[in-house]
Amino acid sequence: MIRLKGLSKHYGNIKAVNRLNLSVSPGEIFGFIGPNGAGKTTTIRMMGGLLAPTEGSVIIGGVDMARRPEKAKKKIGLIPDQPFLYEKLTGMEFLQFTADLYGIKQDAFAEKAGKFLNMFSLFGRAHELIESYSHGMKQRLAISAALLHDPPVVIVDEPMVGLDPRGMKMVKDLFRTLAAQGTTIFMSTHTLKLAEDVCDRIGIINKGLLVATGTLTDLKHAADMGEVDLEQVFFQLTEEESAS
Ligand SMILES: Nc1ncnc2c1ncn2[C@@H]1O[C@H](COP(=O)(O)OP(=O)(O)O)[C@@H](O)[C@H]1O
Ligand SMILES: [Mg+2]
Repeated sequence: MIRLKGLSKHYGNIKAVNRLNLSVSPGEIFGFIGPNGAGKTTTIRMMGGLLAPTEGSVIIGGVDMARRPEKAKKKIGLIPDQPFLYEKLTGMEFLQFTADLYGIKQDAFAEKAGKFLNMFSLFGRAHELIESYSHGMKQRLAISAALLHDPPVVIVDEPMVGLDPRGMKMVKDLFRTLAAQGTTIFMSTHTLKLAEDVCDRIGIINKGLLVATGTLTDLKHAADMGEVDLEQVFFQLTEEESAS
């Protein structure tokens, strides 16, 4: 469902993302983990068609992002790490605005908006200005907006930053439900616990290079470690970075 082929982004001498090859299947939750500056956000921005790769390609559901960006983007629900929300709109107005951009019909919109607002405990505040929302509420609204058009692929950058434990649980449950319905989920995180909890497969990126991919069990074997948790595997595979 998602294929990254030799995907690279260079900034001068810095190889922010270096020849990334990766496939994620329908219904899979893929966790993309790495220390700060590893290249997670750069990868996600290229996947979402917001940033042009220096080399390589992003294929979403068989559609090449560089060749047919509109078609590829329709298949994606992108939740950036710092979502842009119009603070002078109400939550409901923002959802309506987003639905209009995607050409979602009014009756479908009413049903979906109601569903997400309920699920994310935003219903009671839907007609208040976004500027009055807490950070967590804004995050939940951004997630709702990104999912209104039922995208088969959801790409999320650091979904849990700023969410309290209840908010985190809501998001985890939602991702599991979506994946069970066949949605492909790609999420970056530096929260290892989250990756352990919800991801079917994990990729570890360090200094722009994908240093390992696999299930948690695979990664432990690759790192030649026995009964350890992801944190220990992560520190071993990204040793230099965490020490510097
Ligand atoms: N616009 C930019 N110009 C120059 N360097 C950048 C730019 N964006 C990111 N970088 C560099 O690319 C690397 C990867 O950054 P990023 O993808 O944001 O990492 P992460 O999301 O994993 O923390 C870092 O070294 C960062 O400084
Ligand atoms: Mg980032």
